[in-house]
Amino acid sequence: MSEQKQISHSARLATLDTTHPSGDPRFADLDRTMESYNFDPTSLIQILHAAQQMFGYLSADVLRYISTSLKLPISHVYGVVTFYHLFTMKPRGKHQIMVCRGTGCHVRGATQVLEALQKELGIREGETTKDGLLSLATARCIGACALAPAISVDDDVYGKLSPDKVKDLVKNDLKKYV
Ligand code: FES
Repeated sequence: MSEQKQISHSARLATLDTTHPSGDPRFADLDRTMESYNFDPTSLIQILHAAQQMFGYLSADVLRYISTSLKLPISHVYGVVTFYHLFTMKPRGKHQIMVCRGTGCHVRGATQVLEALQKELGIREGETTKDGLLSLATARCIGACALAPAISVDDDVYGKLSPDKVKDLVKNDLKKYV
């Protein structure tokens, strides 16, 4: 019986572009991913990770879809998403600004650097600029401790920052990302 269910589900996936009413074909990809894990609830983290790569972030709609497909309570799915820092429920910008809040950076003024960036960009930590270009987040260490306090923008690192240098950075260096 369960084998028959599995076959009919596979057949359905093969004939449809998507199984989601929105018509978004990424949900068909998500179906295939969940199928590859046999809709196993213990694979939730891997499935969430794949979903985030497909959609860029985990919307309430995507979380509901996963919860229903894996037959997991939505509260459990939200609990996992909010527990792990690698998951985000907000759309991310084209470029990621990561402010290091590791000990080395913290003692050299990371908090002031973050505050200056928030002021200059007009967004808070975890938010994205209105044009969708820059997102601001924090990390425990970005591996540039010798340059503390440091931030990264995508793969580029900017170090030995201060609130004044942040102003310059936003006015000059960040222009190449926008
Ligand atoms: S503590 Fe900031 S880069 Fe390591």
